[in-house]
Amino acid sequence: MAELDKKDESMDATPNVTEVETVEAATEEAAVAALDAPVERGEPILQVRNLVKHFPLTQGILFKRQIGAVKAVDGISFDLYQGETLGIVGESGCGKSTVAKLLMMLEKATSGEIFYKGQDITKLSGRALKAVRRNIQMVFQDPYTSLNPRMTVGDIIGETFEIHPEVAPKGDRRRKVQDLLDVVGLNPEYINRYPHQFSGGQRQRIGIARGLALNPEIIICDEPVSALDVSVQAQVINLMEKLQNEFNLSYLFIAHDLSIVRHISDRVGVMYLGKMAEIGTDTEIYDHPTHPYTQALLSAVPVPDPESREGRERIILTGDVPSPANPPSGCRFRTRCWKAEDKCAQEVPLLAVPERFKGEDTPAAHESACHFAEEKDVVHAA
Ligand SMILES: Nc1ncnc2c1ncn2[C@@H]1O[C@H](COP(=O)(O)OP(=O)(O)OP(=O)(O)O)[C@@H](O)[C@H]1O
Ligand code: SF4
Ligand SMILES: [Mg+2]
Repeated sequence: MAELDKKDESMDATPNVTEVETVEAATEEAAVAALDAPVERGEPILQVRNLVKHFPLTQGILFKRQIGAVKAVDGISFDLYQGETLGIVGESGCGKSTVAKLLMMLEKATSGEIFYKGQDITKLSGRALKAVRRNIQMVFQDPYTSLNPRMTVGDIIGETFEIHPEVAPKGDRRRKVQDLLDVVGLNPEYINRYPHQFSGGQRQRIGIARGLALNPEIIICDEPVSALDVSVQAQVINLMEKLQNEFNLSYLFIAHDLSIVRHISDRVGVMYLGKMAEIGTDTEIYDHPTHPYTQALLSAVPVPDPESREGRERIILTGDVPSPANPPSGCRFRTRCWKAEDKCAQEVPLLAVPERFKGEDTPAAHESACHFAEEKDVVHAA
């Protein structure tokens, strides 16, 4: 990804969670006004607290009975700061997309809170909820299936104005869509074309234009470039960075590719089996990981340079990822962790700065959910 632009470093050293300053709005008008008020750069805009999503497992056809639950997300807390990109990484099935859907309110949380500008959006309704839906948008993974093949690009992007006519009155919609096409680097004259007339990268640009249509403040990006050719990925990432600066956007950026996440993110959270294992700035996580799971993930990234590969420790994880319907007691990673001890089966490790690094001026002093967090030399290419 060498051809990508350099990212803004100004978001480093923000804490993971800060105190929530809740906003109690007396009327719906006041709630909407508070939700539309700007947040200063570097202040928390979204604060997630103890977020849980359990999908019930049922048995029986006529009389359904719950026999368990898939603990897809099991108590996650983090802040998203205005203007930053928070990357989320983790193996398939660890709950990344479920977090995205909860934030978008496409799924209802089992418990926990999501504060957007101090108001818990899981409890909002009416015009206040509509304001949140306008301000938090999503860009999906697959530009092939997320765009309706029977609709023109103009209709796909403009459709959202039917629900939010206040953003673009009827007579102004065509021009607004053309402006959006221009902003994402597509020819505005393509407005009447259909998705199949575009390449994968162009389709993702259309998906981004749709995400931008309502002038949102936050964009949740769930694997936005994973379905694209490597050569096109960099162009789309560059576009997203340019738009972030231009429109003052905050991104939650979910992806498998550790190098892409490092490139675009100010901070990175590593998820494992429904929990956050470690979170910190990109440098803290990539160059000074203290959680064994992060160390293993990074050591699995191929290193092209034979010299730096030499003497490198490669951690091979044994065993499969346990089922989220029946996660291990204590630390969820313990069944695959080479450092596990009795304590790991008995006590759930909390996500916190490890005691040994507290107050130390070291990049290892970031939050890690491990009883025995320590640095390990892992050479990696990400
Ligand atoms: N609607 C659902 N009903 C039951 N289980 C679900 C549902 N949606 C997700 N899950 C389960 O929740 C867990 C987390 O899924 P999720 O899609 O959030 O993972 P992910 O990290 O996004 O994975 P991937 O990297 O493959 O996209 C998985 O075990 C998945 O099977
Ligand atoms: S708490 Fe124990 S099992 Fe979990 S990551 Fe740390 S050492 Fe490994
Ligand atoms: Mg997913």
